[in-house]
Amino acid sequence: MDLLIFVLLIILAVFVLKVSLISLLFYSDIRAAQGKDPAAKSFLEVLFLYPGVHALVYYRIGHFLYRMRLFFLARLLSQFARFATGIEIHPGAQIGKKFFIDHGMGVVIGETAIIGDGVLLYQGVTLGGTGLEKGKRHPTIGDNVVIGAGAKVLGNIVVGDNSYIGANAVVIKDVPADSTVVGVPGRITKQEGRKIDISLDHVHILDPIMQAMEELQSRIDKLEKK
Ligand SMILES: CC(C)(COP(=O)(O)OP(=O)(O)OC[C@H]1O[C@@H](n2cnc3c(N)ncnc32)[C@H](O)[C@@H]1OP(=O)(O)O)[C@@H](O)C(=O)NCCC(=O)NCCS
Repeated sequence: MDLLIFVLLIILAVFVLKVSLISLLFYSDIRAAQGKDPAAKSFLEVLFLYPGVHALVYYRIGHFLYRMRLFFLARLLSQFARFATGIEIHPGAQIGKKFFIDHGMGVVIGETAIIGDGVLLYQGVTLGGTGLEKGKRHPTIGDNVVIGAGAKVLGNIVVGDNSYIGANAVVIKDVPADSTVVGVPGRITKQEGRKIDISLDHVHILDPIMQAMEELQSRIDKLEKK
């Protein structure tokens, strides 16, 4: 009986030590998550229950291993994190301070992605490549950028500081700082708070095939008239 109590106390001590260490080392990341999610009620809730925070903790350890050139271990950890959280962050990616992934399921961040400070991603975001290219092939995201649910940011492009990428947008070109981008392909609708694209077709914005069909139809109409 005494032995059982002793073992339980040891387990409890290890757990408390682990939680304290993570809280200390990742304090600013956890606080950032708390600040960015209006639903977050407490530090402990974020620490224990937010997959975005857990994925970041695994990533930071994996990135350290990657920089030590322990590539297999680093990938092993990132794959475990993917299994546990549904978020896949390549350990080679470079991520700044106060980064937060809200909800998280389905997020993919590629090996050569670079992410600035204070960035917020929602579920389903991909920071990926456009094909089988080598070298720097993933995006560079500036400080304080928000990327909406399901958005895809592809290729070696730069998203400037303080920009917003709308939910489900597909961005394949550079985005200047302080811009809002929505749609497929992504178009800038606001810059420095001013609306700039009044001709945006919101009805078909998420259906590029329909848009291409309509363009073809209008060309056929023109040819038939001739
Ligand atoms: C893109 C976004 C940041 C725009 O916010 P905003 O600056 O307040 O812009 P507005 O709401 O004034 O919208 C500007 C225009 O873009 C359109 N728009 C907004 N978001 C859009 C989107 N994701 N896709 C397509 N069009 C969009 C609006 O209909 C509006 O069109 P209008 O000018 O014809 O009225 C925001 O709509 C968004 O998508 N945020 C992501 C949030 C998210 O992923 N939440 C998940 C929580 S779980």
